[in-house]
Amino acid sequence: MCGIVGYVGARPVLSVLLDGLKKLEYRGYDSAGVVVLGEDLNLFKKQGKISSLESEISGLSLDGKAGIGHTRWATHGVPNDRNAHPHLDCSGKLAIVHNGIIENYRELKAELIEKGHVFSSDTDTEVVPHLIEEELSKTNDLLKAVLSSVNQLKGSFALAIIHKDFPDKIIAARVESPLVLGIGENENFLASDIPALLPYTKKIIVLENGEIALIEKSKISIFDSQGNQIQKHPKTVDWDARMIEKGGFEHFMLKEIHEQPNVLKETLEGHLDLPRRMVLLPEGPPDDLLRNLETLYITACGTAYHAGLYGKYLIEALTGLPTEVEIGSEFRYRERKFNPKSLGIVISQSGETADTLAALRRLKGEEIPIFSITNVASSSVARESDWVFHTKAGPEVAVASTKAYSAQLLSLVLFALKLSQARSGPFNPRTTELVQELQKLPVLAEATFNLEKNIQAYANRLRLLTDYFMLGRGLDFVTALEGALKLKEISYVHCEAYAAGELKHGPLALITSGKQVCLLATQRSLLPKIHSNFKEVKARGAEVLVLRFPEGEELEGDETLVIPSTSDYLSPLLAIIPLQLFAYYMAKEKGCDIDQPRNLAKSVTVE
Ligand code: F6R
Repeated sequence: MCGIVGYVGARPVLSVLLDGLKKLEYRGYDSAGVVVLGEDLNLFKKQGKISSLESEISGLSLDGKAGIGHTRWATHGVPNDRNAHPHLDCSGKLAIVHNGIIENYRELKAELIEKGHVFSSDTDTEVVPHLIEEELSKTNDLLKAVLSSVNQLKGSFALAIIHKDFPDKIIAARVESPLVLGIGENENFLASDIPALLPYTKKIIVLENGEIALIEKSKISIFDSQGNQIQKHPKTVDWDARMIEKGGFEHFMLKEIHEQPNVLKETLEGHLDLPRRMVLLPEGPPDDLLRNLETLYITACGTAYHAGLYGKYLIEALTGLPTEVEIGSEFRYRERKFNPKSLGIVISQSGETADTLAALRRLKGEEIPIFSITNVASSSVARESDWVFHTKAGPEVAVASTKAYSAQLLSLVLFALKLSQARSGPFNPRTTELVQELQKLPVLAEATFNLEKNIQAYANRLRLLTDYFMLGRGLDFVTALEGALKLKEISYVHCEAYAAGELKHGPLALITSGKQVCLLATQRSLLPKIHSNFKEVKARGAEVLVLRFPEGEELEGDETLVIPSTSDYLSPLLAIIPLQLFAYYMAKEKGCDIDQPRNLAKSVTVE
């Protein structure tokens, strides 16, 4: 949802900005722009990816000690050069970049036009430079002008502002949209997300809602929404710059799929007490709270929602505790009652998804405590939760989530086991057996890559595919939903995931001769049922890819992928890997932009 960067210091400003924007390109990639403040404002913006902007300005060396940049995911105004950021005021002296949506831009624009301001884009953003220009004409103090302008804006925004008459300074403001400041030696940075800062510093300050920062090369001053200076202490992040390189893989997505065995290992680290066959979850809610719960509410979006659905199935199976799971965008607006003896579980890779955050706040408004599972320890979700499980997936760069999903599933296994221990004691054979199985997962996940060549060949054979079906029962249905999402979002193949038992209630009408179906068969207790579904689709002429454990030989598809044997409860952690690889290789066959699929952005910080 747009990425913004800013830099004040002695390095070549243009290259720091372009470098930062490339690290944030997953947030939006329909146009990009930069402004470097030297004698004048040097502004460049261009429709298309950052590479288009880069080729336009390559070889330029601009004197300047400060600059800001933007990579856009269009909301208001089509992606073109005019609507690309940065945007200027009428004087051409002030430039801003913005991530978010200014909801009251129509009223503000009308007032500003009345006062004589001339607009040159169709964006909501452009009201901001004109508004600041108006305020500046009253005070001649840029900080005050920004403060009073920001207080007139409604919506969500992260802003970076630069002005020719106030050299070597950037002013940044945040309401809802994320903004992180990076602290260097005699240089300072800002960015929408930590990866843009990692090549330069690991010392960060997260700007909170309503805060404004004045960034100079030797210091950063932070003010609250009333203009009072406040003290904030920097934190050190535990990610490093190597984590955001492709490391020899052709795409970030493939690299991240392959990182999963290690992500599982890292996420398990410190959470298994093998001698006692127990899990440890010191970052979770205390046992007495877990013991007294009557309901769980899980909320998340997209892939994280699928992880939540897995959590529901697993928690209910292992503990019997009724668990609801709902998409953030629905949950936030539902009229309903809540059980006060409950816990909210909020799942988000980025920790900044607007609908997930709103759902979290809805739960908090009901005084329900929150346990969150997030990959970004400094994110809004983490900061607003009572307890946080920090998944150890490392930065996820590809827009399609893969390794974060595995880490979320594993976190939910740990939580479900911890819940079971707290509620019915540690010596339940079902849960102690699972603890034993968990430690084997990283090795088993690695072994699923033996299927990669077959999957690549299967994708090659299906390269003209337009429609696909993924069917499964129980936890296999959850995997089907996630596998179908991956296929849709990166290879643009229309794919429907169904609970296999639902087939005959409608979708079976779509299964005709030559239709391609993937049938998941990793739930041992449901094998006879899935066998009937296999027969149903075969009888109608479908070609079937079966994904199963080594046992279950009676289910042989036109193609069969056999994943290593593990507990039915843990199979989603292994079964998703071949489906991620299938989506990847289909997208590759079709020449799609794998890491940055069309119309999508990684972190959905607007509603
Ligand atoms: C799909 C995908 C999205 C995200 C969703 C939530 O591959 O990545 O569906 O899962 O936008 O994002 P987070 O987890 O950051 O809240």
